This record gives sequence, structure tokens and C-alpha cells, in this order.
Amino acid sequence: MTIRAVVRGVGHYLPSRVVPNAEFEALVDTSDDWIRARTGIERRHFAAEGETTSDMAARAAEAALADAGIAADSIDAILLATSTPDLTFPAAATMVQRKIGASRAFAFDVQAVCAGFVFALANADALILSGQARRILVIGAETFSRILDFTDRGTCVLFGDGAGALVLEAAEGTGTPADRGILATDLNTDGTHQDLLYVDGGVSTTGTSGQLRMQGNQVFRHAVEKLAATGHAALDRAQLTSADVDWIVPHQANLRIIAATAQRMQVPMEKVVVTVQDHGNTSAASIPLALSVGKARGQIHEGDLLVTEAIGGGLSWGAVVLRW
Ligand code: COA
Repeated sequence: MTIRAVVRGVGHYLPSRVVPNAEFEALVDTSDDWIRARTGIERRHFAAEGETTSDMAARAAEAALADAGIAADSIDAILLATSTPDLTFPAAATMVQRKIGASRAFAFDVQAVCAGFVFALANADALILSGQARRILVIGAETFSRILDFTDRGTCVLFGDGAGALVLEAAEGTGTPADRGILATDLNTDGTHQDLLYVDGGVSTTGTSGQLRMQGNQVFRHAVEKLAATGHAALDRAQLTSADVDWIVPHQANLRIIAATAQRMQVPMEKVVVTVQDHGNTSAASIPLALSVGKARGQIHEGDLLVTEAIGGGLSWGAVVLRW
């Protein structure tokens, strides 16, 4: 008998404030045209004053539980992917546990920046396969608006806030790629590229939370190459090929990265879920947001083969192949 971690529900939350590209024209030397042409981004959501990462994560988790028809107190574990937690500790996942009443669940944060949701999914899969948990909430939630330098046009226009969540549950499979659930994962890190994408503050250095710094064009180069490679590696591990893919659900950083990666993976853009125009880059929240929106749009159906892939600061990158 093979155990699989199967998706039972999905949900998301976006803060109510929508920030169109034009708002940045008053802050830095940029234009709506430049942002659309170079990134595909048209607007993003920013959290309200006082609205935290765990607030948004809890709303997304409740939506996913409602979609699954599963009660919060039957959840065994909560994994929250975030680089923008409410406090240095405790983990924002523990605040979600309290807010949604998931009293039986152990809860912790996963920090792999924009690859965080892929890393959290792979870890949740491992917890389910090892029998340590049967039902897991896997959440991605970020308030990147709080770590942006609004004088740096190369970064402040790119990011947004939001949250998305999945409910995973252990189920019996046949051990073949026809099974529903997570079929393969591939995780990678190269810590030599820290200078390309980092936050210039932290607890044990400056004692501040710092601001995001990025060499965008260098990150771009790594992204296209590494995302296609990890996508192929995960498909190989699942004994599948690009031809089997129904949807790529990529990290939503830049439409040009998404398109170039799809081309390298030989998957047409009609099979790619794209939400970057509406959300910007929401870091660890972007994949679960795209999964939730993709399902709500009627794109993703039960039985579809999905590849999710992401890269971020570290550099860390990875992919998960799953049948919805
Ligand atoms: N508006 C107008 N001009 C801008 C700008 C903005 N918002 N941001 C950067 N520019 C300028 C640069 O200053 C530079 O000007 P210069 O030639 O006078 O020095 C010019 O555009 C080209 O810069 P470059 O960084 O080479 O542009 P690019 O085509 O690579 O696009 C990014 C910049 C940031 C959009 C792009 O590199 C990118 O998306 N990189 C990946 C970022 C990412 O996804 N990171 C997260 C991964 S998780």
C-alpha cells in the first residue's frame, strides 16, 4: 500500500487595498507601461495597517478548511511558509493555530523565501508519508509591503501581500503516477548567492527587520535556468514528462520568467496558471494563491497533473509534482 498526501481543499485571502502600478509613479521614477512590459504586473494588494501575516494566513486557512469540509480541530499540523512573520517568535503558525481553533495541531513556520511554499509542501508530504500527521494545513502568507524600500524602483514595484492555503490528507494510493496527491518533490539550495536577494537587517545583525535588496537581472538569469531544471527533475522522479502536464502553477514573480520557464519545459502558456498581473510577487503566498484562483476560475480540475515550481532568496528553489 502506498500513502499519498492528497489535496482536500484550497483557499486564499487578499487584503482589500488594491494598489495599481500608477501609484508608484508618485514615489519613484517609473511608469505603469514599464512595470507591465517588464514584469506583467498591473496591480497588487497591500495589507491594511495592523493587518498581519497570521491574520491573512488564518483567513486563507479557514477558506481551505471550508472548501475541504474539514473541521479545524481535526488538523494534525500547520506548516506556514513565510519570511514576514508577525514577530521574531513565536512562529506565526502558532498564531494561526489559535485564531482558527486548530487545538490539536502542532505548528511551525518554514522560511525559504519565495520557494517557501514548495519547501513547506515537501515537508508536509514527508510528515504524512512517515505517519506523523494525517491532515495538514499548508499555508503561504506574506506582508512583503512591510520590508520594501519605497525609494528603490527596482524592487518596490514588484511585491504584494496575501495568503493561500491547502488542506492535505493521507490517502491510499496504488504507487503509480495515476494516483491523486503529491507524486514527487525536488528541493535545492545554493547559499553562495546570498548577495543577489536578501533583506539587509535581522535579529542577530542589526536588530531591525531590514529592507529587501535585489540584483533583479542576476536573479532573473538564475530563475529561468533553475526553475526549468527543478521542474524536469521532479517530473523525472514522478516518472512523468512535460507531455503529461495539465498545468504549471509557478511562483508568480515576473511574467517573462514564467513564460521563459514554460518554454524551456516545453509546456504551452495555455497550460500555465498566471495571476502575477493581479497579485504581483507575494513570495511564499504566490503558489497557493494561484492554486486557489486557478481552481475558482475553473482551470484546475480533480485528476489534473500539476507542476509547481519556485525560486527565491538563498538561493533556494524547488518543484512539486502533484495530481489534484
Ligand atoms: N521602472 C523603470 N525603470 C526601472 C525600474 C522601474 N520600476 N526598475 C528598474 N528599472 C531600470 C533600471 O534602473 C535599469 O536602468 P539603467 O539601465 O538606467 O541602469 C533598467 O531598468 C534595466 O534594469 P534591469 O534590472 O537590467 O531590468 P530587467 O529587464 O532585468 O527588469 C526586473 C528588472 C527587476 C523587473 C527583472 O530583473 C526581474 O523581474 N528580475 C527577477 C526578480 C524576481 O523575480 N525576484 C524575485 C524572485 S523570487
